[in-house]
Amino acid sequence: MFRYLPEQASEIAPHVDFANNLITDLSVFFTVAICGAMLYMAIKYRKRGGRDHETPMIRGNHFLEIVWTGLPTIVCIFVAWYGIEVYAALRATPDSALEINVTGQKWVWNFEYENGKRVGGQGAEFVVPVNKPVKIVMTGSDVLHSFFIPAMRVKQDVVPGKYSYVAFRPTKVGLYDVFCTEFCGTEHSRMLAKIRVASEAEYERWLNDDSAKIKGEMNKRPPAEVGRELYNSIGCMACHSLDGSKKIGPSFLKIFGREGTLDGGKPYKVDENYIRESLLNPKAKIVDGYSNQMPPFEGRLDDAQIGALIAFMKSVDGSKPAEAAPPASEEASKIDLTKLSPAERGERIYKEKICITCHSLDGTRVVGPTFKGIYGRSGKMADGSSVTVDDAYIKESILSPNAKIVEGYSPMMPPYQGQLSDEQVQDVIEFLKTVK
Ligand code: CUA
Repeated sequence: MFRYLPEQASEIAPHVDFANNLITDLSVFFTVAICGAMLYMAIKYRKRGGRDHETPMIRGNHFLEIVWTGLPTIVCIFVAWYGIEVYAALRATPDSALEINVTGQKWVWNFEYENGKRVGGQGAEFVVPVNKPVKIVMTGSDVLHSFFIPAMRVKQDVVPGKYSYVAFRPTKVGLYDVFCTEFCGTEHSRMLAKIRVASEAEYERWLNDDSAKIKGEMNKRPPAEVGRELYNSIGCMACHSLDGSKKIGPSFLKIFGREGTLDGGKPYKVDENYIRESLLNPKAKIVDGYSNQMPPFEGRLDDAQIGALIAFMKSVDGSKPAEAAPPASEEASKIDLTKLSPAERGERIYKEKICITCHSLDGTRVVGPTFKGIYGRSGKMADGSSVTVDDAYIKESILSPNAKIVEGYSPMMPPYQGQLSDEQVQDVIEFLKTVK
């Protein structure tokens, strides 16, 4: 009865439909039975010829009471149990799932694959291989959207600033509709896409076909590679190793999916949302055994960069040997440092140690005070004392930054005690003298 559901194209679809049909059938059956009985009684026992039909009074029929209490209870428990089972299966994702990143924006869906392949725009078609589990990791760039593939029986809200996902295993080759199913503005009804389920070979061919590059649809590089560059350029590598060694922050080796305890005893599990929060607002969750040292990157990374960093962290899974040495220092080793002036060497350290992440050279306020005109500057410290920036002050601030905190700033800087030699500290001082 009432079999109006669309084609079943995923493994879970028959189970979702069974639950849906069962509830529909039960509802129809009981509606008809109850309303039918009511109508039948109303007609049969109506007042006729001025005479009422008084029905016999039945009291305490155990058989009837057990039936009408027991039967609905069993039916309800079964429906709830089945629903929970199917829901759990819908949310489960095998580790081997193919991951596709999806961004919803007014009014298009954009799809990005691990190798950097991108498709997007109204009516965009993306391809998945048949019989392989797929996980679609989604975020929004403006307002609420909702990602819906009826044939796969998956639907999930897409929220800006947050990651959500749907997972399914397509079982039938074909072309299916993708909708936005949350009203998101005037063009909401045109926010459509297509999913093409293809054979493994056809999928591979499509994935590696970069003729789309010419049309500008293909991103030049895989997101994980972009993320690796950011890891070096914004300074993550100063505190987070790739080889499992403990630095100022936790290592990125096998970080994705890691579980542990936070400072304060609460458990954590690293997923997309955890990484995003830790980038934008690191102090929100501090892993047990570490301290709050990281500068917040709120407003300094866009969604694409955050996505790239997440992709990079996923890629540091121990399957490849870690590249602990950042390109910057590889380059540095080729240069004869003795030929440089102390200030030039200091500038190299400024860049390599990523002081640039927190201290600008042009006067703009980032996390720490700017280095523009720093030498000889006088200022007030958080404890009320006054300090003039000289060699001793700079040295102390590099080796144990928490000793003196300039008023209006917070203690965020990692100590470089043991990481820089006296000569290197002196080079940095010489460099700072030149920043006017
Ligand atoms: Cu996006 Cu509706």
